[in-house]
Order: sequence, then C-alpha cells, then structure tokens
Amino acid sequence: PQAKKVKIDKSYGLLDQRVKISGWIHRMRSNKKVVFIVLRDGTGYIQTVLSGDLALAQQTLDLTLESTVTLYGTIVSVPEGKSAPGGVELVVDYYEVVGLAPSGDEAITNKIAEGADPSLLLDQRHLALRGETLSAVMKVRASLLKAIRRVYIEEDITEVTPPCMVQTQVEGGSTLFKLDYYGEEAYLTQSSQLYLETCLPALGDVYCIQESFRAEKSHTRRHLSEYTHIEAELAFIDFNDLLQHIETLIVKSIQYVLEDPIAGPLVKQLNPGFVAPKGPFMRLEYKDAITWLQEHGIKNEEGNDFQFGDDIAEAAERKMTDTIGVPILLIRFPVEIKSFYMKRCSDDPRVTESVDVLMPTVGEITGGSMRIESTEELMAGFTREGIDSKAYYWFIDQRKYGTCPHGGYGLGTERILAWLCDRFTVRDCSLYPRFSGRCKP
Ligand code: 4AD
Ligand code: MG
Repeated sequence: PQAKKVKIDKSYGLLDQRVKISGWIHRMRSNKKVVFIVLRDGTGYIQTVLSGDLALAQQTLDLTLESTVTLYGTIVSVPEGKSAPGGVELVVDYYEVVGLAPSGDEAITNKIAEGADPSLLLDQRHLALRGETLSAVMKVRASLLKAIRRVYIEEDITEVTPPCMVQTQVEGGSTLFKLDYYGEEAYLTQSSQLYLETCLPALGDVYCIQESFRAEKSHTRRHLSEYTHIEAELAFIDFNDLLQHIETLIVKSIQYVLEDPIAGPLVKQLNPGFVAPKGPFMRLEYKDAITWLQEHGIKNEEGNDFQFGDDIAEAAERKMTDTIGVPILLIRFPVEIKSFYMKRCSDDPRVTESVDVLMPTVGEITGGSMRIESTEELMAGFTREGIDSKAYYWFIDQRKYGTCPHGGYGLGTERILAWLCDRFTVRDCSLYPRFSGRCKP
C-alpha cells in the first residue's frame, strides 16, 4: 500500500499503517539477521527494525550513525514488557539512503556524547546539538519563549523590536561591547529598557525578546556575553503592581511549559524534582537579606561580614537562595549599588523600588524596578554614575513630554532554563553560547 509521509511524533498514532519516515540514524545495533535503528527527525525518536534481505542489504551498504535515510514500513506496537519511544516500532520493508555519514562511529558518538571534554563539545556544538540532552533543552527553550509570548498576548502587551546597535549604556560602562559605527563609537545593547520606556506613550505597555550583550570577562555558571533578554515596560503602575506582574508572568509561563505536550515531559526528564512555582513569592527586603547573611555567617567578596550597602554577589546570593529554597523577590536595593534610572522609595530615600527574582540553584533570573519620573532626579542619577547625559537626550525627553509612573524588568532566558531544566550552566541553555574566549562556531 501507498506510504503516508509523516514526522516521527505523528507516526506513533498510526498503528498498522504503512508510513514513510525520513531522518538521521541516531543509534544502531545489529546481529546477523536483524538491524535495529533508532531514527531521529527532530520531532522525536522511533525504533525501527530491518530484517531478512533488508538487513543483509544494510550490512553490505554499511550504514553509519548520523546518515540520513528514508524508511518505509508498518507501525506496530512494541510487545508487552518492552519499551520504545511512542510505544511503537517501525517494521521496515524498504529504505533509501539520502546521505551517508563517514564511518567511525566512535568519533561522532564522542562529539554528541555527554561527559565528553567540554571544549571539544563546544568546538563541535553543531554536532553536539544533535544529542538527546541539548536538543531537549532547546525544545524546552522554544516552548518557554512561546509561553512568555502567550502571557504577553493575554495581557495585551505589544511586542516591539528595539535596535541592537546603540550609543547609550544601561547597566554600567564596564561591560559594554564597543564597535566602530562608520567612524562613530557605538555599542551592542546591554538592555532594551530605555527604548521600551520611549514606546509607552506611543504604544502603551510593551515587551521585547531581544539579544543583549555584556562583556563579562570572568567565567561563571550564569554569565554569557550574548543572551536572550525578555524585557517589558508598563505604564501607570506602582511598585506592587510590578512585583505582582513579574510573579504572574513566571508562574503562568512555567505552567504553560509544563502543560505543553512536547516540553512538559522533557522538563520531567531533565529535572525530575522540579516544583512548579506558585504565588505569592516570598518578599525579602535587601536590608533583611543583609541581616540574614550576617546571621548565617556568609561573608562578602572581601571576606568580611555583610554591611548595608554591599553588593550581594553571585556566590552569597546563591547560598542564601539555596538555603531558603523557594523563589524570592529580593526588593529595595540601595541607590548606590543599582543603576542610574531607578526610582527611590518614598519612605526611605536610601533605597530604590527595585527587585531581583531569585530562584534556587541559579539565583537571579530577573532584575527590574520602577523608573525615575522627573528630569531633575534623572540628571542627578547620571551625575552620580558619572554618565555624560548628552547621548540620552531622547530618554530625558521621555520625562519632559508627559512623564508617567512606570516600571519594567528583564528576564534572562538562559537563566530561567538553567533553573527549569536543572543545567549546571547557562552555556547549556544557549544554542551557540558566547563567552570570553568563545565566538565559534
Ligand atoms: O539585572 P539586569 O542587568 O537588568 C537590566 O538589564 C534591566 N535594564 C532590565 C530591565 O529592567 N528592563 O539584567 C536582567 C536579567 C538578569 O536578571 C539576568 O537574568 C539576565 O538578564 N542577565 C544575564 N544572563 C546571562 N548572561 C549575562 N551576562 C546576564 N546579565 C544579565
Ligand atoms: Mg541584575
């Protein structure tokens, strides 16, 4: 009978039907009479069986791992007690070779294997991506971005695409990537926040999913030089609205990923102990976090007891988050350790209406704040940070022409994924990770 051309994930439901499936040879083993091939096509895996003349033909052809083939055959359910992807097997009656990969199974297997030398795996990222774990994380990533967009659509927030090539900094000059822009100095964007703020009077609440760039020289588990930044800016809100909004976005988007028929089971497989976050998240003021760190004997970067005004760097932050063991909204950071644009709290001008969301295992996944509304205060912020305000005329105009209370935040996609998929480093959550010393493939 005529074979129906299908993707692997759709073939599972086609019991007793004759199908045509194309894909890559993921695994293979054979004895004299039978060849078992696990075929992969990006939608799933299927176990296939070649026997009799076909097996013989295969052996003379010398099929190799990662070769591309089109298999024709009948879908049957696997016998009781045996397991296979989708619970089915393809009994092959005919096949075509589309592209033979070089032989030397060992080599390709090592390039795809987990546990191989990390720098080899990074050089061979284009092949390593074919591995079961990395490709699963990338599937979850796609689902997460879809879920985030779904929440924004539900909340009537408009998507925009700000520029990546800019002439202003957002999060400090030390991590700027400079570039020669037709003879002028320009940078790769650190955050689209300032541009999102200018969209409020034109489009209302806005968001973007855009690459951000940071020249982070030190190698850590959670810093990339290029990452996918999910940012939003909301008008006529107060600090409490902002915290509520961030919490809802995280809870709902994770729920959508877990409900996704493709990504949900992959998260279970990658992170069996994952507990979906539920609101309301614990709210912890910076000053109380300092007290907590002092009481738990955790030291600052200089090895001393934490004092009000200290930056809570990665190691201490992670220790605190892991010990507390639940999502935390860490709020009200001191002015001096935060960016120029953050609004002060009306009841305590030493601190800002700012928030970091901390998740066990990774620490900070989100940073946000309410923004300064008045031109004078903003100018004082530039002065404090030693920033020449000239390049920011358009951002300052935002305060002159119909200012409004507003706030926003940025989420690091790879950090959320490291937490959700239980990856040791954000490098495992980026398609082609960029960090100092690595800009290929
Ligand atoms: O805390 P950050 O620096 O905040 C901002 O950029 C704000 N302007 C965002 C805003 O309010 N619109 O960065 C936001 C998030 C962090 O919480 C972290 O998850 C991620 O971006 N992030 C990084 N992820 C990977 N590698 C890096 N080098 C990152 N730097 C920040
Ligand atoms: Mg931050």
